[in-house]
Amino acid sequence: MKDTELVGVQKTLSPVLKAKALDNRLPDPILGDEYAEQAMRRLDPDYDNGRFGTSQIGLAAVVRAKAHDDWARSFLADHPDAVVLHLGCGLDARVYRIDPPATVDWYDLDYPSVIELRQQFLPPREHYTLIDSSVTDLTWLERIPRGRPVLMIAEGLAPYLTETDVRRLLTGVVDAFPTGQIQCDTVSVWAWRTSKWDPFLRKYDAQFHCGFNDPAVLADWHPRLKYVDEAPMYDSPMLMAKAPANVRRMYRLMNLLPGMKRSTRIVRFRF
Ligand SMILES: C[S@@+](CC[C@H](N)C(=O)[O-])C[C@H]1O[C@@H](n2cnc3c(N)ncnc32)[C@H](O)[C@@H]1O
Repeated sequence: MKDTELVGVQKTLSPVLKAKALDNRLPDPILGDEYAEQAMRRLDPDYDNGRFGTSQIGLAAVVRAKAHDDWARSFLADHPDAVVLHLGCGLDARVYRIDPPATVDWYDLDYPSVIELRQQFLPPREHYTLIDSSVTDLTWLERIPRGRPVLMIAEGLAPYLTETDVRRLLTGVVDAFPTGQIQCDTVSVWAWRTSKWDPFLRKYDAQFHCGFNDPAVLADWHPRLKYVDEAPMYDSPMLMAKAPANVRRMYRLMNLLPGMKRSTRIVRFRF
């Protein structure tokens, strides 16, 4: 099946899924996500025959996914009664990679056409619910059980929302739960402002709608929200250790360009 049902920003799920599928072919993969390889083949059977074939140039996206997985695992180890809000989930198989205990209730949310593809490509499981909604229509929050710790993961999502919508989302989640962890990634103001000319985004008819030079300031939006830390992406030691030599060279060069190394920031907050 081709990704013809997907429009605009929904199509951006494909390059990250491809990166995870190709990572799974490395002798010593970062994620080792077999579901990604299977889902990518279903989404586009010729995905590895294109211009960049089996090149690992997207491996930084896999590093980002691993950072979110590691943070999520550690939060769930401490909060086995948590609810997980995995927002803008695309076709990411995080729930299967993390395989949380039955005491955790996991919600994957994305637009209806993406959720429809998930239902075709990925198996159901217990304590796992799909929500087909725009994340900005916050009525979906009313369907989530309250009174428990929450883990919100928004990987590759926030830059596609307006700052107003990111703020409503973050403050809405903090207001709804007693305690929790919020993990997201943001792009710099420069990356946001130039995104309408970014050939990568143009290919997917998408552009960024917000950017932050210091994403820690998001914690100022709510008195209970505290910035915790950041995980490296383009200069991650794991990327440098696992990427093939040509890809390592490309990232090293890219990191020399002003602003590139921190053009995406992976950040964690708690409340
Ligand atoms: C770059 S992809 C990331 C997918 C997934 N998180 C991953 O890392 O593989 C962005 C995802 O966000 C979703 N998305 C963007 N805006 C959204 C919105 N307003 N509501 C729900 N999903 C949204 C898209 O449909 C797409 O699946």
